[in-house]
Amino acid sequence: MQRHEMIDHARLVMRDNDRGTYTVPTHGLYPFQWNWDSALSALGFSHFDEARAWQELTTLMAHQWADGMVPHIIFHRPDDGYFPGPEVWGTGHTPPTSGITQPAVAGFAVARIHARAHDKVLADEQARALLPKIHAWHQWFYRCRDPQGTGLVAVLHPWETGRDNSVDWDAAFERVPTEGVAPFTRRDTTHANPAHRPTDDQYKRYIWLVQTFRALEWDNTKLHDASPFQMVDPGFNAILIRSCHDIADLAERLGLDEIAVQSRDMARRGLDAMETLWNDRLGQFACLDRTTGDLLDSPSIGGILAAFAPIPKARAAALSQRVEVLSHSCKYLVPSHDPTSADFEGLRYWRGPIWLIVNFMIADGLEQAGETAMVPRIVGDCLALIEDSGFAEYHDPITAEPCGGAHFTWTAAMVIELLYAHGLVV
Ligand code: GLC
Repeated sequence: MQRHEMIDHARLVMRDNDRGTYTVPTHGLYPFQWNWDSALSALGFSHFDEARAWQELTTLMAHQWADGMVPHIIFHRPDDGYFPGPEVWGTGHTPPTSGITQPAVAGFAVARIHARAHDKVLADEQARALLPKIHAWHQWFYRCRDPQGTGLVAVLHPWETGRDNSVDWDAAFERVPTEGVAPFTRRDTTHANPAHRPTDDQYKRYIWLVQTFRALEWDNTKLHDASPFQMVDPGFNAILIRSCHDIADLAERLGLDEIAVQSRDMARRGLDAMETLWNDRLGQFACLDRTTGDLLDSPSIGGILAAFAPIPKARAAALSQRVEVLSHSCKYLVPSHDPTSADFEGLRYWRGPIWLIVNFMIADGLEQAGETAMVPRIVGDCLALIEDSGFAEYHDPITAEPCGGAHFTWTAAMVIELLYAHGLVV
């Protein structure tokens, strides 16, 4: 496929999933607006329609809760093809939203789109409107998800990380009960191959957590301490740190001094604390289970995605080396779980497959750190996967088999972003 054809195809995917003021990740499987999908998709839009890119972010932030939380799903229009729908969440918002959040990539997206905007007047105006909201979300994280002030935030549900069924959650999930879960029918397995999706047992535990938080009326002053699942994920924290760091610079330029100072402080404290997540045995960062205090030995992509934050150069170099090691056990980079691990499953969602959005963030972080050795390989593998297998939700890192949903918005957005940002099309 010619590069220009690839762009045309990607734009078509984005257009088909465009609902005017927001995009759906893909028709059928995910028929609403998802938080980090929208932020990353805005990067794709920005290359051909800056106003539409800002609109995507504006719609997302318009559904922020009064306490600062930005929900992971906004149920703009009813659609019974997805479970769990609004009636299961019961958050009482209009339009309905879920009650948990997702990776805080919106701050990074605003800063990136602003930096390269052609329409500077529009960009300044949009950034001024969005920054206070994004900043309130970042403050919410450190207030409600780091009540002891460690510098690192915990997620209370695997869906918050965006890496739903990662091996990282297996041990902690043993402590999440299944008793008392109301009977339900999954809808995801009617749209995608069940062998590519989480198991029924995992789904019960996902729903147990939702029911438990709902019983606490989604009161974020209570949820953290009440949750049996409190996971400190390096990738999740890295995204938050990077967004704080990037909006600090932007806020300074726009004369929003308080946001700048506070954001810089959050980023610095987060970066200092990230060191406690370094796992020397794995040669990468790893998750910390806050309920037990254990640093996990799980070699997942979460610990490599840490490269997205402005971590010390030696750590970035080590992560680049780790990616190089992974390249020996798969054909395409970067697998979401180490293929040499017994838990690796090449087709099953976040237990092995490649996700272009994660590749993009790893490549961007390594580039910012000046550790560029693996960057062309990561970018090249993304494009090869699309050429071989189309705009799938995720791909098998050994066979390139397309998995999950097809015709996927953020996959398309990443292709556009990677091609333009790496100067591969003009
Ligand atoms: C899945 C993914 C999550 C994504 C959502 C919509 O739940 O694991 O990261 O945001 O689908 O694409």
